[in-house]
Formats: sequence, C-alpha cells, structure tokens
Amino acid sequence: MILIIDFGSQFNQLIARRVRENEVYCQIEPAGFPLEKIAALKPEGIILSGGPSSIYEENSPKIDPGIFELGTPVLGICYGMHLMIHALGGKISRAPKREYGFATLEIRQNEPIFKDMDSRIQCWMSHGDSTDILPSGFTVTASTQNTEFAAIANFDKKFYALQFHPEVEHTVRGTEMIRNFLFDVCGCQKSWNMGSFAAGAIDQIQQSVKDKKVVMGLSGGVDSSVAALLIHKAIGKNLHCIFVDNGLLRKNEKENLEQSLTANLDMNILFVDERRRFLDALKDVTDPEKKRKIIGKLFIDVFEAEAAKIKDAEFLGQGTLYPDIIESKSAFGGPTSIIKSHHNVGGLPEKMNLKLIEPLQLLFKDEVRALGLELGLNEDLVWRQPFPGPGLAIRIMGAVSEERLSILKEADSILLEEIRGAGLYRELWQSFAVLLPVKSVGVMGDKRTYDSCIAIRAVTSKDAMTADWARLPHELLAKISSRIINEVDGVNRVVFDITSKPPGTIEWE
Ligand code: XMP
Repeated sequence: MILIIDFGSQFNQLIARRVRENEVYCQIEPAGFPLEKIAALKPEGIILSGGPSSIYEENSPKIDPGIFELGTPVLGICYGMHLMIHALGGKISRAPKREYGFATLEIRQNEPIFKDMDSRIQCWMSHGDSTDILPSGFTVTASTQNTEFAAIANFDKKFYALQFHPEVEHTVRGTEMIRNFLFDVCGCQKSWNMGSFAAGAIDQIQQSVKDKKVVMGLSGGVDSSVAALLIHKAIGKNLHCIFVDNGLLRKNEKENLEQSLTANLDMNILFVDERRRFLDALKDVTDPEKKRKIIGKLFIDVFEAEAAKIKDAEFLGQGTLYPDIIESKSAFGGPTSIIKSHHNVGGLPEKMNLKLIEPLQLLFKDEVRALGLELGLNEDLVWRQPFPGPGLAIRIMGAVSEERLSILKEADSILLEEIRGAGLYRELWQSFAVLLPVKSVGVMGDKRTYDSCIAIRAVTSKDAMTADWARLPHELLAKISSRIINEVDGVNRVVFDITSKPPGTIEWE
C-alpha cells in the first residue's frame, strides 16, 4: 500500500485517485500522523502531498524526519518537496514571484520517474517557495525556465521530489510519473480491484454483524444502493432496508429501484408510501431552505418510526464514501466539506443508538460504480446522475403541488429520454428540468395559451464544486423543446439555462 500524507492541497484526492487507478491501494492520512503508525502500516511508498503553507510559517504543518529513516521510498510533491528538502538539510526560500500555471519541463535525466518520456513536457506549477540548496545525495533531474529544481532525486535512498503537480491533468504524462513511482520505484503489485475488495468487505461485515440485524435507508442513489447490496451479500435477510417514498423522485425511479433491488436481487426492502404527508407538509412553502428543512426532518421522523419496528436492530448501514471520511479527518477541511454539510439532508441523528456500518468508506465514487457492476447492480442505477435529497421539490420554483409535480415529472422524463437517446447521459454531470413560477403567452393551434415554462439545465462537472453549462446540440434542444410542449399539458415554453457555476449553482434553489 501507498501512504499519502495530506498537507492540505486541494489536489490530494486526485493523487489518491491516480494511485488507485493503477490498482494499488492507498490511504490518505493527515499531517501529524504519528511515525509509529506510519511504520506499522508498512507502506511500500510514501507520498507527501502539496499544501498551501510555506515551511517557514510558524504554524505550518511539519513532518517527523524519522520518515526518511524507514527505508521506504518517498515522493514529495510541491510543499511535500519543501518538507523533504528542509528535513534533509537543504534550503528553501521564498521565490521572488509566485509561479502559477503551465510551464515547460526540461528533463535532464531519464531516471525512473521520467522513464521513456520526451525531454520537454508540459507541467503545472503552483507554488510560492522554491528550492535554493539541495540536501547532499540529491541531483536535479528536471528544470523549467523559472525553477531550476523542478524535479530532484536521491537515487540511493529512493527519494524523489517534484515542484510541479503530476496529479493534475494539465501535467502531460503526470499520471505515468505517478505510475512509475508505484511500480518502478516502490515495486508495488497490482492487487486493488473491486472483486477482491468485495470478497474482503463481505467477510468483514459478516464478522462484525454476526447474526444481528442492520437497518438502512435507501435513497434511490448509487451509494446507498451499492452499500446495501454489499451488506445484503454478507448477511442476506438480516438487512432491513427502508425506502421512504416522499413522492419527490423522478418519474418511475421508485419502480426501477424496486425492480433492480427487490425483484432482481431479492433484497429485503420496505417501501413506505408517505407521498401525501410530504405534499401536505410542503403546502404553500416557497422558501428553498424551508423546503429542505421540512423534507429532511420528515424523512428522519418516518425513518426512525419504521426502524423502531424492526426488533433487535443493532446496526445502521450508510453509504458514506472515502472523500467524506478524508474531509472529516483532514486538519485543513476540504473545500467540499462546507457544501456537503449544508446539503446533508439524510443525516440521521445519533440518538438512534445504533452502531454504524459503512462498507464503502474506503472507496471513491468511480470505485463504487465498479463495485456495483461487480455485484450485479443494473447499469441504470450504477450510472445514475447525482440527485439532491430534497428531490424535485427544489426544482419546482415556488410552492410544490401535486399538479406541478406531475408537470415537472413528465417534462423531466422526456428530457432524460432524449439525453439518453443522444448518448449524452453519462457525459453530463447532471441534466434535468426545472419548473418556473412564471406563466407566459403562446399560441397552439389557433388558440391563445397562458401556461408554464420549463427550463432545461445540463451541466458538466467533476465534483459539483464548479460546473459548466453543457453545450447541448441545437437539434437535441429543439427535439426536447418540441416534445415537452406537445406532450406535457400545461407547458407552452421551454428555455435553456446557460449559466455556469460559479456564479450560478447547479440547482435553481
Ligand atoms: P448546487 O446547486 O449547490 O449543487 O450547485 C451542488 C450539488 O449538490 C446537489 N444538491 C443537493 N444534494 N441535498 C442534496 O443531497 C440538497 O439539498 C442539495 N442541493 C443541491 C446538486 O444536485 C449538485 O449535485
């Protein structure tokens, strides 16, 4: 395994992704992770991440120099490079000007990290400090115009350091540099894949749950579905899933979930029909945050009441993923943590007194998808686009009513059918319809109409932190618009949202 020590760079999860893509297991631990624990993990290699600090700042994160005595290969990236140089007796100084953006890397030595690469490669820089004096035993292996020590190495000790960021896409062949570190420097074997992960996870769940019961809420999304399926494979009918039908899912989503999990995979799921209760609670509510609070609270009330009926339940299953764990452990708080807490509608209170079981807590989203496929989950569910907890309620601007829900569901289902038909569903981060609170005039046949307006929202994104509006083909937009207006009663106008995030958000509320 590879240990990544987190010094606060926004790119840390990308480093871990690059390692895992190579079928090598890695773990991210915060700066300050004790040396004894590092030694006990017996990593095959250590990566010191980048970070926003300068090593001469008073409270900047430090490193135990003992790391360099373990006989383990180390790769330092940016701030991680500075820590390595400082700890081993070299000198770092403030560069006269910050270097940010593209640079051309001139490779001086074809050492393991740059194996078989051209002598000039584009790389991505983002640093203020840089290296002044190298520690003994190190040589320069690559430079850029501004930075002489862009890459350095101590071959005997297997210490490598890069001033640029190999983990970001802008560094051409950066992924290969990381791969070379894993296989040529650390001698890792490919052993991390979802088949072996599933076998180990099922075994672990069996050992910790034994013959007790687990309750778990299903949202219809990929994370909770895959987590539930994994637990189901381990303990069968002792897993009691609860799906609260709040009526705010897209057309046919509940039925599809029922088909894939209950009919095809024989899972034990209780479908609780609370559509009326949610609609009543949302009556005349127009404020988006109020909608979120009402839906979140009602979900918890219903879930708790149903869970209480399951006698002898000892565990609560959850589909928590690795990025949430990293962010909650990180000394720096990831940029996404703020967004997530604000959006965490399904969070269940601790008073339920159940032990948590989170079988996906070591996985990234794409690994969860691969695991879902491995376990036999159907492709539609595995590739489902993210969907907000409060569902369609925050895609109906203004008050939610049965009639408005039905308009939105129909329009949204046409939109998705066309997006899928055009082969764009997986490329888009999200694509959906929004029902606007305005009516406008139109003509249909010879008649004047005065009806609702639907907005088409489609975005590309990597993590929902930023997003770009998708350049959907005009022909596709034309087809979606004409079908919605012809097939959905009560809609006479369709508009296309061309706002990116920032300054807009993905959802309209
Ligand atoms: P925004 O609209 O803030 O959304 O750009 C970013 C991502 O979060 C989703 N989202 C939510 N998810 N509960 C959720 O579970 C919410 O209240 C919520 N609001 C937004 C949104 O769909 C997008 O993927």
